[in-house]
Amino acid sequence: MRAPVAVVILAAGKGTRMRSILPKVLQPLAGRSLLSHVLDTALALEPARIHVVCGYRGSDVAAAHADYPVAWVEQPEQLGTGHAVACALPDIPDDHRVLVLAGDVPLVTAETLAPLLEGEQLTLLAARVDEPSGYGRLIRDGSGAVQAIVEEKDAGPEQRAVREINTGILAAPAGPLRRWMAGLSAANAQGEYYLTDAVAAAHRDGVPVDARLAADAHEVAGVNDQAQLAHVERLWQRRAAQGLMRDGLRLTAPERFTLRGTVHFGADAAVDADCLFEGEVVLGDRVSVGQGAVLRDCAVEDGAAIGPYTVAEEARIGAGCEVGPFAHLRAGTRLEAGARVGNFVETKKAQLGPGAKANHLSYVGDAGVGAHANLGAGTITCNYDGADKHRTQIGADAFIGSGTQLVAPVRIGERATVGAGTTVTRDAEADALTVGRSRARTIRGWQRPGLTPRSGSTDDGDTPPDSGSATE
Ligand code: UD1
Ligand code: CA
Repeated sequence: MRAPVAVVILAAGKGTRMRSILPKVLQPLAGRSLLSHVLDTALALEPARIHVVCGYRGSDVAAAHADYPVAWVEQPEQLGTGHAVACALPDIPDDHRVLVLAGDVPLVTAETLAPLLEGEQLTLLAARVDEPSGYGRLIRDGSGAVQAIVEEKDAGPEQRAVREINTGILAAPAGPLRRWMAGLSAANAQGEYYLTDAVAAAHRDGVPVDARLAADAHEVAGVNDQAQLAHVERLWQRRAAQGLMRDGLRLTAPERFTLRGTVHFGADAAVDADCLFEGEVVLGDRVSVGQGAVLRDCAVEDGAAIGPYTVAEEARIGAGCEVGPFAHLRAGTRLEAGARVGNFVETKKAQLGPGAKANHLSYVGDAGVGAHANLGAGTITCNYDGADKHRTQIGADAFIGSGTQLVAPVRIGERATVGAGTTVTRDAEADALTVGRSRARTIRGWQRPGLTPRSGSTDDGDTPPDSGSATE
């Protein structure tokens, strides 16, 4: 029978090499903290308890993960990884097996860790890498048994050449681990109590040391600086993209796709290069998402097409809708089936009925637009009077001419027509034309500053000074 498991996650360090004010374990990976990734993996192992050792800005770290069922342990001074483990041990019974995880090694999977939970030996997770610098090296004796781990800063040239490295992750029975941690010395290059010295102590005690090699060295990549954080982000994104493609999502350029949340999708959904999905994104069957689109907490129904460089947040896009390119759908936007929102249109708390259109250069905020209504280029809902927001309601089959301002609160009746350039301040009647615009004048012979007069030009134009403009 497997011993009860206590997971100890080390998260007290500042992460000096990040050169950031944010504690290292709060740095973002795929849009959430490094620590949250490690916590999710720990939870998947169904341990008896999870202890997180915090120090630098520990209350911020705990507050950011308040939803997790974990015990927070304070390490008042960062005296080393061995000292950090020792801080958690008083709460862990002797019959437990302790799994130590690092808060800065976020990609390791529960499948890789599960075998470490078995047995009475000390098991450490190791990896064979081409570039071992910065890591502790595994030192084996003549028979091949692991004798010790030597930190890079304490290693001689021969030891530095070793390419078998410590991932920082190990498991051991709580009783012996307590003894080993009590016996640690800080007489080393960094003046720290090293957890890794447990290996030499186990070797001395005759407790077997089992080094398991991670099948994929990428899984155990640590984050110590910005370059490693970016590297781990790409590894995470690659893994996510491969999973999505396995499930049938078409990604034109998987290495240029970024996910910060979850995406669910139907058959033949396709996503072009450079898209960013955040929160919860749902794509129906045959949905296409154009290059560079940013979707956050959006549902896109069957057959809808999102054009390139569209940004949509908390929006629902109905079946067969066409959006963008360059549209901005803000929170509370709902497009019913077949609606169209074109380039440089911004919507907010706006509901567009089936087949309604706002194709160019508009702001539609706090508005309801009836079925098949058409909003011309430059239609603006003036929803804000400086103190309050007001609603605009547009009836089905209404036609709003270009360059129109709708000063809310205002209603446009069904099948109403509003002439181009009108400022609508009162409700517009159904089935009628509402128009209000000042007449344009032509002043002949007027000289624009800086424009050289036409040679020999005379005032012989035949437009009378007060004629209407051609737009009427
Ligand atoms: C550690 C290992 C090294 C291994 C490497 C893998 C030791 C002595 N060395 O080195 O063998 O190759 O990880 O990534 O264990 N922490 C605390 N309290 C402390 C010190 C550290 O909680 O007093 C936490 C850090 O926040 C971090 C983790 O422990 O999450 C590892 O510490 P770090 O200083 O990054 O160790 P490395 O030098 O990377
Ligand atoms: Ca580290």
